Amino acid sequence: MEIRKTQVVMPVLLAIMSLMVSQVALAEKYSGSMAPHDRQIAEMQALKASLVRRNLPPLVSPPPTPPQAVPGPRVYQVISYGADPTGKTDSTDAILKAMEDAFEGPNHGVLMQGINDLGGARIDLQGGSYLISRPLRFPSAGVGNLLISGGTLRASNDFPIDKYLIELKDESSKLQYIFEYITLRDLLIDCNYRGGAIAVVNSLRTSIDNCYITRFGDTNGILVQSGHETYIRNSFLGQHITAGGDRGERNFSGTAVNLMGNDNAVTDTVIFSAKIGVMIAGQANLLSGVHCYNKATGFGGTGIYLKLPGLTQNRIVNSYMDYTGIVAEDPVQLQISGTFFLGDAYILLKSVTGAVHGVNIVDNMFSGSGHGVEIVQLDQTKSGFHDIGQVVVDRNNVNGMKVKSTVGKGSVSGTGTSWTVDLSPVLLFPNLVKHVQYTLVASEAGVFPVHALRNVTENKVVVETNAPVTANVYVTVDQGV
Ligand SMILES: *[C@@H]1O[C@H](CO)[C@@H](O)[C@H](O)[C@H]1NC(C)=O
Ligand SMILES: *[C@@H]1O[C@H](CO)[C@@H](O)[C@H](O)[C@H]1NC(C)=O
Repeated sequence: MEIRKTQVVMPVLLAIMSLMVSQVALAEKYSGSMAPHDRQIAEMQALKASLVRRNLPPLVSPPPTPPQAVPGPRVYQVISYGADPTGKTDSTDAILKAMEDAFEGPNHGVLMQGINDLGGARIDLQGGSYLISRPLRFPSAGVGNLLISGGTLRASNDFPIDKYLIELKDESSKLQYIFEYITLRDLLIDCNYRGGAIAVVNSLRTSIDNCYITRFGDTNGILVQSGHETYIRNSFLGQHITAGGDRGERNFSGTAVNLMGNDNAVTDTVIFSAKIGVMIAGQANLLSGVHCYNKATGFGGTGIYLKLPGLTQNRIVNSYMDYTGIVAEDPVQLQISGTFFLGDAYILLKSVTGAVHGVNIVDNMFSGSGHGVEIVQLDQTKSGFHDIGQVVVDRNNVNGMKVKSTVGKGSVSGTGTSWTVDLSPVLLFPNLVKHVQYTLVASEAGVFPVHALRNVTENKVVVETNAPVTANVYVTVDQGV
């Protein structure tokens, strides 16, 4: 590590020097055609540069040796390390060696503290399919700006079931973040039902791009733990290779993506089989363009499970929940919008201690089979929801399912002294009216009845008059304020 530091210092000094020299050269070149003011400035700069330069030589002599003078591209071709692209023999050692060489490769300064910048080095799988018997890991933490791409990794029959084929992980590191800007791209990872595909632990700015992840065991396809900004995009994950309607769907297990950290994104990603599509236990994650058809809710599956009771702070937008729904425990700050729910897929708000706050479930589309499945449901078996505020479930369009909303509108007409508008079929929370407005329109000319709001118990709004009249009563109720 010490050697690396001095290697960095030299090129930086050289760069500063050459910048200064070129400034002097510029001043000389242009002084002939310059306005007097500009020339003065140029001369001052030249003087300054020469003064600074005069102070420099003791620092830069003897002349520096170039940093690790390895010419040519930093592409580590795994076949040249002995990896077998036919997938017949074990390639673990060969690929680990390529990773080790990349790890030791010339560095270009540091990214976050303690993370050497490998300058965009590439570990190239060269379009092969490789048999892997234990996790592919770097020798230790502390590198960044590197790409692994372009091939297939398959777990062997003895791959440990509690490990991942690629692990950005180092239990012994004391660094704040252990890897930064590692890109995993264009990879098919077949876990052979023996473990997970990728674990990203305490890393920064990781990309998983255009990956196909399959046959993970009863574990996670991708695990993201601590760190932040792991971006999973344009990828496909499924425990079993199927295109829906699979006879074994009831048996799907595992979780395709497990986000146990903050500030990650899953975008334009399809999850085609797993018991749980995306499990989230960290705040400030964004899911967008996620298509879940992993395991139907009817078979016990969940598309997206938000397990952050009390502080959720996640957004699910423009996604597609296909026969599988969303579960949120005590959601506090949650956005679900622009999403298409097909096949009776619904949202379940599950009470743990009874809080639901700052939840927007708006502008979604729901389509079902006409069996009266409610689009948003409450699970209050553990505890009732009692701490309710700023919940907006509204403006969802619904076909073949039952609308639920935190806003209700209705009217009744008739002759008498009492009018009841029952909004309980549409309102999400039983027996909760935070705000109500009504209008009574008497049909007969010249009649001005005295009227009053009497009762809102059980979401039934009761208006009464002092004397019998023929009237229409219009009511608007809001539960979410
Ligand atoms: C599902 O799992 C059960 C129990 O392991 C097994 O008996 C059954 O054959 C499996 N079904 C399918 C379709 O794979
Ligand atoms: C409101 O209605 C409920 C149920 O219909 C009833 O039990 C309660 O006594 C009513 N409250 C008033 C003030 O009339």
